[in-house]
Amino acid sequence: MTTRSADPALDRWGFSAWLDATRRSGDFVMPPELDDVNDAVISVDGRKMINFAGIGILGWQHDPEVRRVFAETAATYGLVVGGSRLVQGVSRPHLELERLVAEISGKEKALTFATGLLANVGFVNAMSAAFSFDDRVGVDNADAVLVLDRRSHWSVWKGTEGFERGRNLFAFRHNDPAHLRELLEQLRGRPVIVGFETVYSADGSIAPIGAILDLCDEFGAVSFADDANGFMVYGNGGHRFAAEYEALRRVTFLMVSFGKGVGLSGGALAGPADAIDAFHYLSGTSMFTTNIQPPTAGAIVHVLRRMRQDPSVMERYLDRVDGLRARLLEIGCAINPTPTYVTSIAIGSRDVGLRVRQEFLDRGYLVPMFGYPAVKKDAAVIRLLMNDRIADKDLNGFVDTLAELRHRYEF
Ligand SMILES: Cc1ncc(COP(=O)(O)O)c(C=O)c1O
Repeated sequence: MTTRSADPALDRWGFSAWLDATRRSGDFVMPPELDDVNDAVISVDGRKMINFAGIGILGWQHDPEVRRVFAETAATYGLVVGGSRLVQGVSRPHLELERLVAEISGKEKALTFATGLLANVGFVNAMSAAFSFDDRVGVDNADAVLVLDRRSHWSVWKGTEGFERGRNLFAFRHNDPAHLRELLEQLRGRPVIVGFETVYSADGSIAPIGAILDLCDEFGAVSFADDANGFMVYGNGGHRFAAEYEALRRVTFLMVSFGKGVGLSGGALAGPADAIDAFHYLSGTSMFTTNIQPPTAGAIVHVLRRMRQDPSVMERYLDRVDGLRARLLEIGCAINPTPTYVTSIAIGSRDVGLRVRQEFLDRGYLVPMFGYPAVKKDAAVIRLLMNDRIADKDLNGFVDTLAELRHRYEF
């Protein structure tokens, strides 16, 4: 259905013309409307679909104990934080969660945010802020220099809008410590922050964490790792990427999301105590907005404790992902070489991507197709964070359908 702007003053923004054209070409896809709970099988307009598009991989929200803790925390602490933390105060579930995140990450302190995206934007803001209450003592870090892996998440780049490329903002080639070294050599003597992701959500690669942190040590740079995708998936006693996650303990600042491994929502920054305390003011995304809802904070604490107590739940899940990767290779798919739980299946052009997505929909599978700008042009991928609640028969159905479509569309 086409809508028209009622306000002619909006015409020059071009939304209607762009929508008309992209709806006709099939590029513009509205999100499916879900009839009930997000799960491995969802209902879209009354039709059951196998859901490969979710990110809450273990489905903790369906666990009866998690639901009980959520309800009890809501009864005690209510549904909302009720205002900005500095003005309104902070509830116990948040403080408990922050203590736990600091303990898990081996950092002095942690600060929670409504989402991981806000933690990232706030981090960049805080590390480059010039601020003082009274013009006497203050911080002035306007000369900070950011050096980011080129494929860092949108939220980190969004935070850099006050920076200027080539002056105080630099990008190193994806996962390339040699290029990072070149940049750090040029930037000697300046206050540098090196930012990277642990597990990259678009291509499923993992950063050379130890090598990057060695360079930070050598050049005296502060380090920042966005562990949105890896938090509680790796580094919790499991054997996969154990060396990388051991090295990660040396990072200065760690950002985590509670949306992926933990399967709920929210985010946090962990790091040295004074910096984290200063971030209450300097991040902006702590002071100028609200935080995770208290029942969710309580539920996250519960899930984190369970995951620490029994890492085998995640290990069994990761074994299943390895099984899926093996099957995808058997049918000849090109997938990301690093065996993280992020499975990226190369499709190619955006056009083929859209058709494959529609074919899956017609057969009852909601499949996440990533096109530009999430990935490079003509490098569309199916990006799976497999949901552990998907039944084996549905996984098999997905692989069989993929094999058939691969043959038809030659990807
Ligand atoms: C690497 C990375 N950073 C940050 C985020 C944002 O986290 P959240 O979903 O908690 O806002 C994501 C989420 O997709 C991510 O993949």
